[in-house]
Amino acid sequence: MKKILVTGGAGYIGSHTVVQLLNSGKDIVILDNLSNSSLGVIKRIEDLTGKAVEFIEGDIRDRALVRATFEQHTFDSVIHFAGLKAVGESEAFPLRYFDNNVSGSIVLFEEMMRANVNQLIFSSSATVYGNPGSVCYTEETPLSPINVYGRTKLMVEDILRDLQKANPALRIALLRYFNPVGAHESGRIGENPFGKPNNLMPFMTQVAIGAQEKLMVYGNDYPTPDGTGLRDYIHVEDLAAGHLAALKALEQNASITVNLGTGKPYSVFDMIKAFEGASGVKIPYEVVTRRAGDLSEYYADPTLAKKVLGWEAQLGIDRMCADSWRWQKNNPKGYS
Ligand code: NAD
Ligand code: UFG
Repeated sequence: MKKILVTGGAGYIGSHTVVQLLNSGKDIVILDNLSNSSLGVIKRIEDLTGKAVEFIEGDIRDRALVRATFEQHTFDSVIHFAGLKAVGESEAFPLRYFDNNVSGSIVLFEEMMRANVNQLIFSSSATVYGNPGSVCYTEETPLSPINVYGRTKLMVEDILRDLQKANPALRIALLRYFNPVGAHESGRIGENPFGKPNNLMPFMTQVAIGAQEKLMVYGNDYPTPDGTGLRDYIHVEDLAAGHLAALKALEQNASITVNLGTGKPYSVFDMIKAFEGASGVKIPYEVVTRRAGDLSEYYADPTLAKKVLGWEAQLGIDRMCADSWRWQKNNPKGYS
């Protein structure tokens, strides 16, 4: 059977997707430089699935390594998660982001083409839409990212659109994720940020175990019902399932661009309440000024994903919070 190359497969979304791929009988190889993940996740994936994982520690920008990887295995698809994702860091170190996310993707695509591998799924983001005015994003919403990270995602999308025009044999799915949260139900794999978390859910779980003193709520003066920002949080298991659905859908449809979200926005206060309910732990918080670059509100219109992938999110915020909490409680120091 042909294999799937999963770049960034040791990361948060990649690891959950790899578990589902292995459980559905796919053969995979992970290529990851561990810049934002730990080797420990590989053993956990093996424990969860009962299958050996082929793991290559390396960088997608290392052409010799990527070429050797394509030569040593027969792949029919690539799922490309590898990338840097911190918005603030991307503004401070733009070249690092363009090099890693854009140049790295170009090396990967060149070697993929050289090896005649024609199928790709790319991790894009709701950040490609920027601040379009409307808050419910369809795939037709204009693309105009407002930060460096978002621009790297749009650049790679543009590269792939052009590449497919020049090479009609290619089959490409661009998946635009909204806000992934949650963890595998077992509590064995989950989100493991290095250093102080940037995102709401991992910050909240670290407050709950006492690793952070209190949550900073970035603004309660937004034009939303409770004044805090609204986002479309999606369980990482639903997101992972979206990749398996995309692999299947690519058999019928060579060019897919879809939002992966639930279509239901929740506020920061909604999330605190749901988390306290799921964990039984009170989350101390302080309302501070807005975080630069944050939007008031946005969420996915998930209609197209349902139509094209036959996929829709199944898990609600209570389950997202319960699973994030189980992961954090069982692994207060992540994978170490
Ligand atoms: P993550 O950091 O947990 O996983 C990314 C993985 O890629 C890490 O294991 C990292 O070590 C690896 N990596 C980074 N650069 C690499 C390189 N040059 N070569 C090899 N490996 C490299 O992040 P995640 O949350 O799992 O995100 C996966 C993908 O989804 C990323 O492309 C990210 O931009 C995108 N995305 C994430 C979110 C989110 O909020 N988590 C939202 C939208 C899109
Ligand atoms: N928030 C807080 N306190 C925190 C962290 C976040 O109040 O400590 C608030 C934010 O202001 C926002 C909401 O919680 O209203 C969600 O913030 P996150 O940082 O969790 O997520 P973002 O929506 O800012 O961005 C995330 C990823 C991006 C990705 C985007 C896709 O960080 O990489 O979702 O929609 F592109």
